[in-house]
Amino acid sequence: MVQLTLPQNSRIKTGKTWPKPEGATNLREFRVYRWQEEGDENPHMDTYYVDTDDCGPMILDGLLYIKNKIDPTLVFRRSCREGICGSCSMNINGRNHLACTTGMDEVEGPVTLHPLPHMPVVRDLVPDLTNFYAQLREIEPWLQTDTPQPQKEWRQSHEDREKLNGLYECILCACCTTSCPSYWWNGDRYLGPAALLQAHRWIVDSRDERTGERLDKLEDPFRLYRCHTIMNCANACPKGLNPAEAIAEIKALMVERRV
Ligand code: SF4
Ligand code: SF4
Ligand code: FES
Repeated sequence: MVQLTLPQNSRIKTGKTWPKPEGATNLREFRVYRWQEEGDENPHMDTYYVDTDDCGPMILDGLLYIKNKIDPTLVFRRSCREGICGSCSMNINGRNHLACTTGMDEVEGPVTLHPLPHMPVVRDLVPDLTNFYAQLREIEPWLQTDTPQPQKEWRQSHEDREKLNGLYECILCACCTTSCPSYWWNGDRYLGPAALLQAHRWIVDSRDERTGERLDKLEDPFRLYRCHTIMNCANACPKGLNPAEAIAEIKALMVERRV
């Protein structure tokens, strides 16, 4: 059984309020989505108090404080702690972002944390990204060529390399895809902004020799054309990338090759 994350404005019942740390004077309230498959029928929001004098300034520091000092059963993903691995993405006070690069002082009121929206939940703040990664695999995000492998390296001019700027930086955090309304409704068939940004990254790579085949695979009413330029994706991206623009450029290439 999987638990689907509810829309952020729906009421999730209040869970346990954990005791405040003794002797702490600077406290920050955290409200955190809790759900686990075994013996937990309904998701609920637990309340914790973080001693901000005893941890770092970021939301992830607060979560680590909770896990290490208050409640070791809380589950979330993290690795690099510096906005590179993409694993600590979650919904922070209504906005998808990385917990490690969002300061506690950047959000007002209680820090309210949900898993990325409209995804099945594995447990607590961990979404099930199986479909997200399967869609990434579908666009075959690696260099494909017919020309025999050169002895040293595949060469590329500076101008061609520059075409990859704004694309190669994607850390696959899924903040964009899980904030896209078209993906919420058609996530089984629409590839979503992250996979399409990656598709564009390989389509425009001057060294790749499968451009036609890559475009053929996207020529479908759902896989590409469900994007309605709502722009939530660009607003959500913690790396400042613009998947909507990448999608628009793929659509333009589709038109170009028809004329
Ligand atoms: S611009 Fe396209 S991909 Fe981005 S949020 Fe809107 S519909 Fe989704
Ligand atoms: S485009 Fe941005 S929001 Fe989307 S997966 Fe890549 S880094 Fe994350
Ligand atoms: S822990 Fe790696 S991006 Fe946040």
